[in-house]
Amino acid sequence: MTPSTFAPHFIFGAATASFQIEGATTTDGRVPSIWDTFCATPGKVAGGDTGEVACDHYHRMPQDVALMKELGLQSYRFSTAWPRVVPAPGEVNQAGLDFYSRLVDELLAAGITPWLTLYHWDLPQYEQDLGGWTNRDTAHRFADYAEVMYRALGDRVDIWTTLNEPWCSAFLGHAKGEHAPGHQDGAEALAAAHHLLLGHGLAVQRLRGLGLAHPQQVGITINPGVVHPADPDNAADRDAARRHDALRNRIWLDPLFKGEYPADLIADMGELWPAHLIWDGDLEVIAQPIDVLGINFYNGETVAGVPGAAVDSPGAPHPRTGDTRHVSRDVPLTGMGWEIHAPDFTEVLVRLSREWAAPNSAHLVVTENGAAFDDVADADGFVADADRRDYLHQHIRAVRDAIDAGADVRGYLAWSLLDNFEWAWGYEKRFGIVRVDYDTQRRTPKASARWYSDVIRSRELIE
Ligand code: NOJ
Repeated sequence: MTPSTFAPHFIFGAATASFQIEGATTTDGRVPSIWDTFCATPGKVAGGDTGEVACDHYHRMPQDVALMKELGLQSYRFSTAWPRVVPAPGEVNQAGLDFYSRLVDELLAAGITPWLTLYHWDLPQYEQDLGGWTNRDTAHRFADYAEVMYRALGDRVDIWTTLNEPWCSAFLGHAKGEHAPGHQDGAEALAAAHHLLLGHGLAVQRLRGLGLAHPQQVGITINPGVVHPADPDNAADRDAARRHDALRNRIWLDPLFKGEYPADLIADMGELWPAHLIWDGDLEVIAQPIDVLGINFYNGETVAGVPGAAVDSPGAPHPRTGDTRHVSRDVPLTGMGWEIHAPDFTEVLVRLSREWAAPNSAHLVVTENGAAFDDVADADGFVADADRRDYLHQHIRAVRDAIDAGADVRGYLAWSLLDNFEWAWGYEKRFGIVRVDYDTQRRTPKASARWYSDVIRSRELIE
């Protein structure tokens, strides 16, 4: 058995997000978010589930932090809810801020490094009513909200992420319609993508202006795809993979690190490309230096070209990739039906570190990785989740392999600490290393949590 060891400065932790765990959606002055609206729209979320109670973390936060401490987490990545903190443009809700302030104090007292994400999809509904991310003003108000958070917590929080997975906000939210606000319009998705990036850049500028500097860190989290051509010798398949790579990966990475959008993407998008929305100077704002690129990874994918199929498909998740199809590989699947193939993870970490992050003095941290499975709890609520443990094991090993291959990866945060609201899937899908019994709100660490806890303590992975 070969042990893989992790350096003392490598951080192990876990992540959650505000709307997925907090509940208390009408408590202490929180105003509605686009996800409250989406949940209230029949047919959008499995089982008609809502975020009203979720894991009731808003009321159980101290116990949840105690649980993190018991598991030995070194860092906890959470998101703050914009609608809890800014109830209307220009206003601040002190009660909302106080909750996050208490959370940060609790974490610090437990010896856990707080990692704050400013936007994990819960846009205030009042912003959506003004056009949401398709409106340039939203980017500026996002920077205002970032300032509110930094003024309140910048003395105690050292790691700041602007956006979580902007691909989902732009394309699942505005093209596929599977996420809030549920629109299906390719041009809107591209407008949202640009304004999300602009919001990121404006927020980074604002935080730096307020004093964020080393050893504090700021960055963004993306969910890069690993897109394989079904047949590498087939030109149509290779082109399909190139187009997916452009819309999934390079649309974020090139502006963030090179200050430009990919030329092939612009050509592929044709008249959908929002050239009129990209103002002089925007790309300089977007390309502000960042310290950390967060990587959320779940699965890779394989695509094939479909010659002759419709090209313009504004309702598809990828506008203008309507002429491609996904091909299944013969590998095991998670409870989401997502392929399990950890070498894809190594591949993407090495590529992103080499091509984008390292040349720009940024390092990588895995800000999410994990899996949903059909958990079965025993009478005590315990889940012997060998499948999730194996998934985590293979993927942490893949991180080690990426480091060995030269990628600068400095941490790994499991998704998720708790079972939680899995967006359009509601509570049906469970990603937690800790089980939540939604009837009693009882938390029970699963076998995977116990295993992960041992890894964190020993800093060693036994193969
Ligand atoms: C990534 C998202 O950031 C998170 O909110 C979600 O629950 C996981 N993917 C699993 O789908």
